[in-house]
Amino acid sequence: MRTAWCDPLEVGRCQLPQMYMNLRCIGRRQRRQLMTTCFILSVVMLSWEQLDNNVVSHMKSYSYRYLVNSYRFLNTSFAVSREDAERFGARRYLINHKRKCADADVLLLLLVKSSPENTERRAAIRSTWGNESYALRELGVHIRLLFVLGVPPQESGRSRVEQALVQEDRRHRDLIQQDFLDTFHNLTVKLLAQFRWAHAYCAHARFLMSTDDDVFVHVPNLVRYLQETDRRGLRDFWIGHVHRGAPPIRRRDSKYYVPHEMYQWSSYPDYTAGAGYVVSGDVVSKIYQASLSLNATLYIDDVFMGICANVMGVSPQEHVYFSGEGKAPYHLCVYDKMITSHGHVKDIHYLWKEATSPRVRQATSGLLGKLYCTMVKIKLFCQPYAFNTYPCRAAFL
Ligand SMILES: *[C@@H]1O[C@H](CO)[C@@H](O)[C@H](O)[C@H]1NC(C)=O
Ligand SMILES: *[C@@H]1O[C@H](CO)[C@@H](O)[C@H](O)[C@H]1NC(C)=O
Ligand SMILES: *[C@@H]1O[C@H](CO)[C@@H](O)[C@H](O)[C@H]1NC(C)=O
Ligand SMILES: *[C@@H]1O[C@H](CO)[C@@H](O)[C@H](O)[C@H]1NC(C)=O
Repeated sequence: MRTAWCDPLEVGRCQLPQMYMNLRCIGRRQRRQLMTTCFILSVVMLSWEQLDNNVVSHMKSYSYRYLVNSYRFLNTSFAVSREDAERFGARRYLINHKRKCADADVLLLLLVKSSPENTERRAAIRSTWGNESYALRELGVHIRLLFVLGVPPQESGRSRVEQALVQEDRRHRDLIQQDFLDTFHNLTVKLLAQFRWAHAYCAHARFLMSTDDDVFVHVPNLVRYLQETDRRGLRDFWIGHVHRGAPPIRRRDSKYYVPHEMYQWSSYPDYTAGAGYVVSGDVVSKIYQASLSLNATLYIDDVFMGICANVMGVSPQEHVYFSGEGKAPYHLCVYDKMITSHGHVKDIHYLWKEATSPRVRQATSGLLGKLYCTMVKIKLFCQPYAFNTYPCRAAFL
């Protein structure tokens, strides 16, 4: 079998006696290279269409973002009359709590995008990271938690779900419900509901955070960070996991498909992932103002938020510990710094208990603790397959 590795191209070399010892190695290596090349080529050919879609659209969007880099078309192309804008955003309240923020110096208003049937998720959030009395007692700050939702989309069972909602709200007094069908394609309506409510009833809150109901927020870390920011008196503050120069998705089978008529350019303005971001009070008012003159048909809510902000001259800043769609690994060293992590439902009580335990400080303080944690985080964030979590550079912060 061994001689079989010596292919005809190698015959010349085979005849040189001094090369004889190396022959098998060379032959085997080249053969391996050839096979690897063939394999890569066939993978490339098989997935060409996919690659083409992704690579080409990203190249177009990045060149648009970084070379042309002007989104001045937004405020003219999306402009509509005030009456038309009202039709998108001004929905009737079915459940409301106008005085939820009154009489308190609110540091952080937490608006959680929820859906009528997600009762258990709301219960978990109330008793973990959204607990207002925990924040007051342990952190010394006023936070306010509200869930924002629409009407159950399915007609069957709607009245039962509605009744349960009313009961739930009677106990907790923390639901905001407006008159629109709670569907994916109405997410921008839900976005407008949040900014409209915050502007009308909680304008004095220093910060607003918008999140999904399957996100874990490390409120103590976040509060510490926001208190620092507040001391520096920053305006136009908007922070989260930033998408820069993202292209619109034109594949019809994608959840995020956007037709050309709805958005005709090759990249979106910068925006933060809708799973969790924070803005300062002045930005709340600006986004609300922008929404009074823009066409809100574009149903991707975080992109629409980016359009509103761009029109008002506000741009987002990246914070590496806002995970976007990513999920944090379970580790004391991570809990010390994390702000948000996506995809938590069943484990939310566990994570809250672990992430706020005094053991976190013990394990991560001191020179040794810091060194140890840097090593751990490099291992967790910097490996090639660790793409769905915090970025590698988070290990060094
Ligand atoms: C668009 O923005 C420019 C510059 O900020 C402003 O002068 C203009 O009035 C805006 N146009 C609309 C339609 O809002
Ligand atoms: C919220 O936190 C307070 C104080 O830490 C605690 O007593 C209370 O049980 C918590 N509420 C819920 C619903 O878990
Ligand atoms: C959004 O809600 C409105 C009002 O309930 C409804 O008429 C419309 O069909 C909903 N849109 C989608 C895409 O679900
Ligand atoms: C808003 O934009 C859509 C296209 O995305 C268009 O069909 C619609 O007529 C516009 N609405 C208004 C009020 O201009």
